[in-house]
Amino acid sequence: MYREAVEGPEAVRRTVTVCKDAVEVVAEALREARVKRGFVVGSGTSFHASLYLQYLLNKYTDLHVTAIPASEFRAWRPTRGTYLVIGFSQSGESSDVVEAIREAKRLGALTICITNTPGSTLTRLAEYSIVTRAGEEKAVAATKTFDVQLAASVMITRAILGEEYGDLLSAAMAATRVVEREDLLRELASKLRETGSTFILGRGATYPVALEFALKLKEASMIHAEGFAVREFLHGPLQLVDESTPLYVLIGSRSSYEESRVGLERIKSYKPNWVYIGPSTPKLGELFSEVVEVEDVGEDVAVLPIVKAAQLIAYYASIARGLNPDKPTKLSKVVKYS
Ligand code: F6R
Repeated sequence: MYREAVEGPEAVRRTVTVCKDAVEVVAEALREARVKRGFVVGSGTSFHASLYLQYLLNKYTDLHVTAIPASEFRAWRPTRGTYLVIGFSQSGESSDVVEAIREAKRLGALTICITNTPGSTLTRLAEYSIVTRAGEEKAVAATKTFDVQLAASVMITRAILGEEYGDLLSAAMAATRVVEREDLLRELASKLRETGSTFILGRGATYPVALEFALKLKEASMIHAEGFAVREFLHGPLQLVDESTPLYVLIGSRSSYEESRVGLERIKSYKPNWVYIGPSTPKLGELFSEVVEVEDVGEDVAVLPIVKAAQLIAYYASIARGLNPDKPTKLSKVVKYS
């Protein structure tokens, strides 16, 4: 898990270079498609990538998509009209996403897959494929493959708009700088040694990353963790916060910080033991117990350095708790039903 997490920035650089043509083909198909609505499906980490692509496509393009867990596709699929389905899967073999894409195809939907595994079932099923270049991922917990799923999401969105994505390379560099500060991350993780439960808050682009951080803490570190949108947290979960509650706040830009401030100040009054991960902004030290500063590379691509900090904290928390992050005892790398 450690090696693969650290390989993430290089995997992003490779994907940006090698997948350019495939992304153009998919963008063209999406631009030309008569349908203007669709689904993005995936499971676990790949569902979190689906949420991120949903955020980008709905925010910046005319295409309206809904992200749903792949296993729910059959229950949610529309009973009328035409639509397209994009499936994320690092393995290209998880039964839930394979079944969703198979069903979408049967119903006549335009199908696209984003996978890290060339020649996988998903690439054979979907009409269009983007094969990301993270290299083989062996650890059960997905790390570098999530990084490239995020990168592919930015590439597709920008390609639809005819825009460049050079900022992904700056973000990959910022992620490398996060890795270089792993001593700080290890120290923060050591505070999770005895923790029973924790919360992760995000806003906009970092909301799916908050969910992903929570998943990494569950599977690698066996900590009950839940992700929320910052101000959504005030609508109930806040009741669980006290001075002993570890809480992480993931923020992608100064403007997102300003938008979240009122909510954060409300949470602060319950004195959580909390850590900010995001770009520097004045007086962070007055609000948070600890700060992990990442370079200000722009809200949308800031997910890359922020998730790198999250993955390494989950890894080190696992070690601090005497676990083997590479071998969660109840999980397998690919979830199949037959
Ligand atoms: C999380 C994890 C799982 C997978 C999920 C989907 O670290 O490994 O949640 O993300 O089982 O797998 P793929 O992407 O291969 O379809």
